[in-house]
Amino acid sequence: MIRASLPRLESRLQALARFGGLPGGGVTRPAWSPPHEEARAWLLGEIRAAGLEAWVDAAGNIFGGAGTGRFDPGRAVVLTGSHIDSVPEGGILDGALGVLAGLECLETIQETSAPHRRPLALAAWSDEEGRYGSLFGSRAFCGLLDAARIPEMTAVDGERLVDAMARAGFDARRAGEARVPAGAVAAYVELHIEQGPRLEEAGIQIGVVEGIVGVRRARVVFTGQADHAGTTPMERRRDAFLAAAEWALKARELVVRRGSGRSVTNVGVVSVHPGVTNIVPGRAELVHEIREPDAAVLVRLARRVEGLARRVATRRGLEVEVRPMSATTPARCAPRVQAVIEDAAARLGLTRQRLYSAAGHDAQNLAAVTDAGMIFIPSAGGRSHRVDETSDREAIERGANVLLHSLLALAEQ
Ligand code: GLV
Ligand code: MN
Ligand code: MN
Repeated sequence: MIRASLPRLESRLQALARFGGLPGGGVTRPAWSPPHEEARAWLLGEIRAAGLEAWVDAAGNIFGGAGTGRFDPGRAVVLTGSHIDSVPEGGILDGALGVLAGLECLETIQETSAPHRRPLALAAWSDEEGRYGSLFGSRAFCGLLDAARIPEMTAVDGERLVDAMARAGFDARRAGEARVPAGAVAAYVELHIEQGPRLEEAGIQIGVVEGIVGVRRARVVFTGQADHAGTTPMERRRDAFLAAAEWALKARELVVRRGSGRSVTNVGVVSVHPGVTNIVPGRAELVHEIREPDAAVLVRLARRVEGLARRVATRRGLEVEVRPMSATTPARCAPRVQAVIEDAAARLGLTRQRLYSAAGHDAQNLAAVTDAGMIFIPSAGGRSHRVDETSDREAIERGANVLLHSLLALAEQ
């Protein structure tokens, strides 16, 4: 059996980690930022240096392949990939592993002339982390983008997607042109770190992903009354921060008690206005998300959490507005792709386990247009979205080889 080259893959992982690299380890490489643009240019160069053709679509997705050219239903490709943008103060493997292991596989297949009936291609999807819009590039590719919303897509710091993409030389309004023709992708398989503790704790080498959670994000704005923080009697205050805090704690309880047992929630962005110590906050804005693998449970929880916000606001004499920001749907991975991954892992003598993904991934969009699946490797300590995210080199090598043999098997089907 042919094998991927771990030294070549590791050296590319280290090279990519320099873009947006932080002094203490980890990376800050948000979509369309200068380090992300440098990383995109570097990746295009690496694809070409590997002897592959490289191209970019209207959504800023990067592709590579051997004579694959544009996507053509007459020559459906087996596609692999992930993303090279990162969260702020993120790790060097989230996304980067899937892109660079994919490149390593394509290069190995080319060097060894390994037989494959279907062409193979690599994708680095833009803005997977959703600085401007969740899973943006793969959404555009899969025809799931709501073009009317593009002009209003903004980052948490207020920067508009259209401006960020314009800086990088793209017209965001044309991102819908990235839509792939029906039937042009025969299958999609993505390698990723698990980002949680399950595989490591079970002592399992390879995760075969069965399904991926959906994520619903909303901006929740409590409006009370700004007042003097010293002179206003406590019982007269309409403190927007305290309402937000009460709601956040109760929303957590609700999701834990009334969810599926797999439901999770987070408030990752909080701001109060005017934001000084001697004024009672008149407005509090939170960005809230709920994640859950079952679509019906996810919708039910989102509705209940919104109702809870209204009750808390009313009782405290405030107003609240819940503005939906994004909603991805939970996806099932294709049984055919799961079987191929499992078989490749078995042939390599690796232990494997089926599991669902608690993080969002581009594969969930690809599942709308083709048979999609994912391979997970254990994350050390279950750590991810933090600078000390890592996986053992042996785990990386195993994952790359399972990807290699899954791609070859899918290319024969
Ligand atoms: C992607 O990393 C996510 O937030 O799940
Ligand atoms: Mn991530
Ligand atoms: Mn990721």
